[in-house]
Amino acid sequence: MCGIIGYSGHRPAIPAIVEGLRRLEYRGYDSAGVAYEDPRGLHVIRAEGKLGALDDKIRGLDTTSSLCGIGHTRWATHGLPVERNAHPHMDGAGRFALVHNGIIENYAELKAELQAEGHVFLSETDTEVLVHMIAKGVDQTGDVRRGISWALARVDGAYAFALLSKDHPGKIWASRKASPLLMGVGVGENFVASDIPAFLPYTREVVFLDNGELVEIDASSWQVFDIVSLEPKAKEVRHISWDVQAAQKDGYKHFMLKEIFEQPKVIRDCLAGRIQKGQVALPELDALPVPERLTIVACGTSYHAGLWAKYLLETWARIPVQVEIASEFRYRDSVFLPGDLVLTISQSGETADTLAAIRIAREAGVAILGLCNVVGSSIARESDSVVYTQAGPEISVASTKAMCSQMVVLLLMTLAWAARKGILAAEASEDCLRALIRISDLLEAELPAIRKQAKILCQEYSDARSFFVLGRGLYVPLALEGALKPKEISYIHAAGYASGEMKHGPIALIDAQVPTFAMALNDDLLQKVASNLQGVQARGGRIIALVNPGAAPVVESPWVLPEAWGPLKSFLVLPAVQLFAYEMAVYLGKDVDQPRNLAKSVTVE
Ligand code: AGP
Repeated sequence: MCGIIGYSGHRPAIPAIVEGLRRLEYRGYDSAGVAYEDPRGLHVIRAEGKLGALDDKIRGLDTTSSLCGIGHTRWATHGLPVERNAHPHMDGAGRFALVHNGIIENYAELKAELQAEGHVFLSETDTEVLVHMIAKGVDQTGDVRRGISWALARVDGAYAFALLSKDHPGKIWASRKASPLLMGVGVGENFVASDIPAFLPYTREVVFLDNGELVEIDASSWQVFDIVSLEPKAKEVRHISWDVQAAQKDGYKHFMLKEIFEQPKVIRDCLAGRIQKGQVALPELDALPVPERLTIVACGTSYHAGLWAKYLLETWARIPVQVEIASEFRYRDSVFLPGDLVLTISQSGETADTLAAIRIAREAGVAILGLCNVVGSSIARESDSVVYTQAGPEISVASTKAMCSQMVVLLLMTLAWAARKGILAAEASEDCLRALIRISDLLEAELPAIRKQAKILCQEYSDARSFFVLGRGLYVPLALEGALKPKEISYIHAAGYASGEMKHGPIALIDAQVPTFAMALNDDLLQKVASNLQGVQARGGRIIALVNPGAAPVVESPWVLPEAWGPLKSFLVLPAVQLFAYEMAVYLGKDVDQPRNLAKSVTVE
């Protein structure tokens, strides 16, 4: 998830573009760049790091005569967040400059084809391939619009891009497929951007672009075309009344809620480029042998994702797994065996305890695999190989979509290793991948109803002094996560437990003010969970239970979730526990996005 902007108008372009990027920084902030035209030609300036670095580079330049340009703030997916990989990228002849948000899935094979024709690439990005393809398309067709159409007919993946052409000053072309792109219609000026905040101070007149549309703008006009037929399309201009803050949250009240509702797209983005011919394609794993034994090391929510994966890795890939809390692991004298692999999981890639765990494994000569969300982060750089979760920036301190993305990639790793061990039939893997794609659509459809139920129940249970959150098997890690969130953002104590443990002591705490939130989904352990809940009910405990239709134990507050394939039910359970905690925090008037005493990543010892 990156932020792009394009401007053509009557005011100096660069200040408007850089200010627009500042309001898009929640979409990505590891490097940035602009391209602008002036009477001397097409100019590109890029910088590593936050926007301030780009500001410093621009400050000394005279850009006042430029009235047209494009800009980008990056969230790296392909290629480290360094200057050569920052956008804009240009074609070999420097005729075109392009900024892009999305993932070109078939970029590797297109790059090889173009290199065979003599194209030279300066970065590791998929985006540079796109601008070279467009340049080739323009050469083939003799026209920018038809050249773009030609190129996009050969590109797979998600994109929103803006393009400048040296030979067409004042014009910008932009198009989208899956990634967001819209136009801001001003008076004597027009914008294209990933999101409304980019141009909100200048205009509230917005045109929402659909997939497969190409827009051409200049200072005084704009026209939308169908990208295949290049037929003009009529588009409605809508008036937006949001302020910038609200717009950055896409109209959601908090970043946490926005990120919960991003999870269907996050599942798709995690799969982007990783399913080829119905099988998992994770080349990052090929660099390492299939582990004889796996030690997963992480903290907080990432630790819970690791625990969840243990169940799948042991069942489907028959790999023995131990999951370690990094702050404990780093001070223990672990025993490593030949064939061991250490897998560290971290959204930020900067968590100190997890980083220390890597150094211990390194010292012991054990191979290290990283699973991170931030490209180029310390944990990513210090691992022998790293797989990125592609969840986009996670702004809210309470981690939500990152765990969803970690679960998707850990599931892909499981399938990949099981396939390499030859113990999982290709059909079984295909079934699982198809079900995974379906779950993102099901979740998209169900999220509003899940939120509605969360709102109702959190009010009914807002008098709780503390909660037990219970699950069995695969749902124990989700119970731990379901207990972490209310602590983090609602400031209500909650204890996550394997429900079979309740009778060994904790059940003594059950009373009317200590309700139970249980996961009683329709699987082989449902009867076991049901009998554990009877123990709670026998002591007057109130119970909210996540259940499936037609397979629900009798409890005070059944919360019905749609049926789903096997372990993929987890992708419906996770947002339910997240939304219950979220709605409880809102109901109790807590500052959701910035909980007290917490930081987004814990980089201190
Ligand atoms: C989760 O909501 C918290 N922000 C926290 O537990 C977090 O998961 C933990 O600090 C690990 O962070 P990481 O994934 O960035 O390493």
